[in-house]
Amino acid sequence: VLIAGNWKMFKTPSETAEFCAALRDREAELEDTDVVVCPPYTSLHHAVSVLAGTSIAVFGQSVHWASEGPYTGEVSATMLGELGVTGAIVAHSERRQLFAETDETAALRVEGALDGGLSVIACVGETESEREAGETDAVLRRQVEALRVVVDEDHLDRLALAYEPVWAIGTGRTALPDDAGLIAGLIREQLRETLNTEMGEQVRILYGGSVNPGNIKDFMAKTNIDGALVGGASLDPDQFAAIVRYRI
Ligand code: 13P
Repeated sequence: VLIAGNWKMFKTPSETAEFCAALRDREAELEDTDVVVCPPYTSLHHAVSVLAGTSIAVFGQSVHWASEGPYTGEVSATMLGELGVTGAIVAHSERRQLFAETDETAALRVEGALDGGLSVIACVGETESEREAGETDAVLRRQVEALRVVVDEDHLDRLALAYEPVWAIGTGRTALPDDAGLIAGLIREQLRETLNTEMGEQVRILYGGSVNPGNIKDFMAKTNIDGALVGGASLDPDQFAAIVRYRI
């Protein structure tokens, strides 16, 4: 199980250090779950320092595909790696909607990050209008296919896909666990079809969108959901720890 907290543009370096110290103190309670925090770039160093020696990993919120170059505002896998950051989110819907991320740039980022030694949480998901137009399956197929073609078989253990329906992000509206489970199943099926069966199983599929301590169990009960990407509720160490400890 992988539970990741996407902090988005929240928490300064000092707020990050405070959060990470609180989470570190609770490490013994975090069970055998892979726990990841994804602070803003400016807070990564503080997160890595405070969490050093724990099993809690620190990821960036995006990453460029080149190792260096004239790309103002971007950072590379090499740069993140030297900082002690071990992975990155790629193509979050906010990047797709607000910062012109496309399936093509998403694929380049995934490839660059995996080749650069990072783990990746690659995001897919339909918008409300796509959902209403009955296009959910087609959109997900297109998004997953774009990512799949760049993934080297050797790197599958470092790849997770996050299904985040855009209409469920930050809205308090969650997908029904049954629907999320069904869509995770479709994504798994697509991975099985295009990779070989065993490799399709290796990729972890996360659900994201208004996950909280009260609903996490219902999502985790679904066969094809292997974890969660948590936004708002990951900003509070008590709530985030409660989500990680959903089994209790
Ligand atoms: P919320 O949990 O705040 O809905 O955000 C979900 C998300 O976008 C995580 O990446």
